[in-house]
Amino acid sequence: MIVYGSSSTQLAADLSRLLGASAARFETKVFPDGESYVRLPRIDGVEKTLVVNTMYPNQDKRLVETLLMCDALKRNGAKKIALVAPYLAYARQDKVFLQGEPVSPQPIGQALKCSGVDEMFVVEAHSDEAVSALGLKCWNVRVVDSMSRAVSSLNKTPQVVAAPDVKASHRAKAIADRLGLELIVFSKQRDRLTGEVTTHPSTEVDVKGKTVVFVDDIISTGGSIASAARIVKEAGAQTIFAVCVHALMVGGAEELLASSGVCRVIGSNTVENRFTSYSVAPELVEELRRHGFQEG
Ligand code: R5P
Repeated sequence: MIVYGSSSTQLAADLSRLLGASAARFETKVFPDGESYVRLPRIDGVEKTLVVNTMYPNQDKRLVETLLMCDALKRNGAKKIALVAPYLAYARQDKVFLQGEPVSPQPIGQALKCSGVDEMFVVEAHSDEAVSALGLKCWNVRVVDSMSRAVSSLNKTPQVVAAPDVKASHRAKAIADRLGLELIVFSKQRDRLTGEVTTHPSTEVDVKGKTVVFVDDIISTGGSIASAARIVKEAGAQTIFAVCVHALMVGGAEELLASSGVCRVIGSNTVENRFTSYSVAPELVEELRRHGFQEG
């Protein structure tokens, strides 16, 4: 059985259809003081359950909701709980960058484990370090195929794929190779205290009159892509798109990207919002099947 909370309704529906499993939505509400409440919709058939709940927005609320959902399942006979948390929050603090900081995925993983999660499926987690810091069995599902399809469905065919930083270059190269497009890679430095980003191209930027598509895992403030997009725009690119997996789009991200020349932002359904344009269900289903979740 698939159960889901308030944050992954589209994805849960896709998974239920593709896996042929029944899906039930947890009753959720927020108490007047801000605390979360959940209630299992039915208790039959929960022995082996797939919980689908992403961790945005907002990270803390979704995390607590997920913990409560798993506890309710365990108390009502779930013998095995697998969690699909397509956006793994707190993954960027995957190491101690400055003295005195935590390794955030570690306590998150511990809390999930304590509330009954046996294994977990995440999508394009920020890093392998974040996944291993969770300390539980976790499969990190790559979605290069779905991203490539999203790039090739843009209303203008791009000639160039751009990575806003070196870490994003592996994914960008895979998409560029798959679609036979050129690749440019930027080098990014972020001030750990202010968050300010400085960017310069680490390969030649020949984009005059071309359509360029930036690809990255996360767009949060938009600062990383905006900083590189300005360079591309000044170099004469005609159209600039941004395709990511997790479109968090916080604060003024949309305006910042637009003012830097990005005409459209495309995200997947790991975060369900108005930027959601493609589903990561095909790759998730493949991975789930590989781990014993077959059609009902
Ligand atoms: C960083 O390493 C990530 O891959 C993204 O590039 C970053 O999280 C994007 O954040 P923002 O949109 O705030 O620059």
